[in-house]
Amino acid sequence: MSYRIGVISGDGIGPEIVAEAKKVLDCISRTYGHTFEYEEILMGGCSIDATGVPLTDEAIAQALGCDAVLMGSIGGNTATSPWYKLEPHLRPEAGLLKLRKSLNLFANLRPAYLYEELKEACPLRDDIIGDGFDMMIMRELTGGLYFGARNTKEQDGVLTATDTLTYNENEIRRIAVRGFDIAMKRRKKVTSVDKANVLDSSRLWRKVVEEVAADYPEVTYEHMLVDNCAMQLVKDPKQFDVILTENMFGDILSDEASMVTGSIGMLSSASLNDTRFGLYEPSGGSAPDIAGRGIANPIATVLSAAMMLRYSFDLDSEADAIEAAVKQVLKDGYRTIDIMPQETGRRAAVTQVGTAQMGDLIAERIKKP
Ligand code: IPM
Ligand code: MG
Repeated sequence: MSYRIGVISGDGIGPEIVAEAKKVLDCISRTYGHTFEYEEILMGGCSIDATGVPLTDEAIAQALGCDAVLMGSIGGNTATSPWYKLEPHLRPEAGLLKLRKSLNLFANLRPAYLYEELKEACPLRDDIIGDGFDMMIMRELTGGLYFGARNTKEQDGVLTATDTLTYNENEIRRIAVRGFDIAMKRRKKVTSVDKANVLDSSRLWRKVVEEVAADYPEVTYEHMLVDNCAMQLVKDPKQFDVILTENMFGDILSDEASMVTGSIGMLSSASLNDTRFGLYEPSGGSAPDIAGRGIANPIATVLSAAMMLRYSFDLDSEADAIEAAVKQVLKDGYRTIDIMPQETGRRAAVTQVGTAQMGDLIAERIKKP
C-alpha cells in the first residue's frame, strides 16, 4: 500500500528525532513492501522565521491532503527565544493549537508504559513499581481552557487576566466514548479525572461520563479528583488502565505519568478525529538546550510512528514490529543519555548511544514475523 505522510520536523530536537523515525519507517517500507511518501510541512518557530506566522493556511491544507502527520516538536527556550516576544497568537505553540483545532483532533492518546529494562530509570521505589505499569491517558484536546475566550485588560485601574473553561456535553461524550472503546481493548477500567468538588464543567463531565459508562457494562469505571490523581500516579500507578480527562488536566497528568516511566523521551502520542487521520508526536518538547548535539532520545518519535501505522493505516503487524524492535534494543543494553542508569555499577552494563545510532539500532532489529 502507498501512504502520504505529512512531516512536521519543527524546532529544537524535532528534525533530529523525526529523521530517526523516518529511518525506521523506511525500513518498514522495505521489509513489508509499502510506499511511504513524505511531505514536509512548516509549523512552529521555523514557520515564524519563514512566513511570519506559526502555521499558514497552506500548511493546514497540506496536512489535510495527507493520510497522517508525523511531528517532532516545536518551540524554543521561552526565556531567550525571540519567538516569545511576539503576540501570544503568533508564538510557536499557537500553531500547534491551531492545527489541533482545524483538524478537529479531539482525542489525544498518551500511553505510559514501564519497560522492564528501564525499571532502574523509574524514580519510584521497587515495591511501588512491582511488576510495572501500563496506562493510557486519554486527553480531550480541542476544548477547555486552551480554547476558551481569554483577555487581559485593566479593570478599575487593576490589570486583570481572564481565561474561560467551557465544555458542552457533546464534546465530553465523544472523548468519553473513545476512552471506553479503548478500555474495552485493554484491561477494561476507566478512571475519569475531574475537579467536580469545585468546577461546573467537571460536574457536567461526571454526568456525561456516567451516561456513557452505562453503555459499557463490562468496563469498571470510577471518578477521581485531579489532585488525588496526581498523588495516586506516584503512590500506586499500577491501579490505572485508562485515565480519561479534560485538556488541561491531561496536559499536566501526562507529563507526570511520563516521568514515572523514567523519561519523557519514551512517551509517544496520537491525536485523532472522527476519521482515520491522525497527528502523531512525541509527548516531550523541543528541548532547545540539547538541540543539535545528537543526544536526544528518538524512541518516543519512533513509537509515535508505530501508533500512526496502527491507528491511521491499520498496519498492526508493522506497528508490532517497531515496538518489538524498540524493546529488543533496550534488552540489548543500548541507552540514550536520558535513560542511562544512575548507579555507576549499572552504567557499566549498558552502552550509551546518540540519536542517530539509536535509530540505526532500532531499524536493524525490524523483522517480519
Ligand atoms: C503538549 C504540550 C502542548 C500542550 C504545548 C506545546 C502547547 O505541552 O502537547 O502536552 O500544552 O498541549
Ligand atoms: Mg504538555
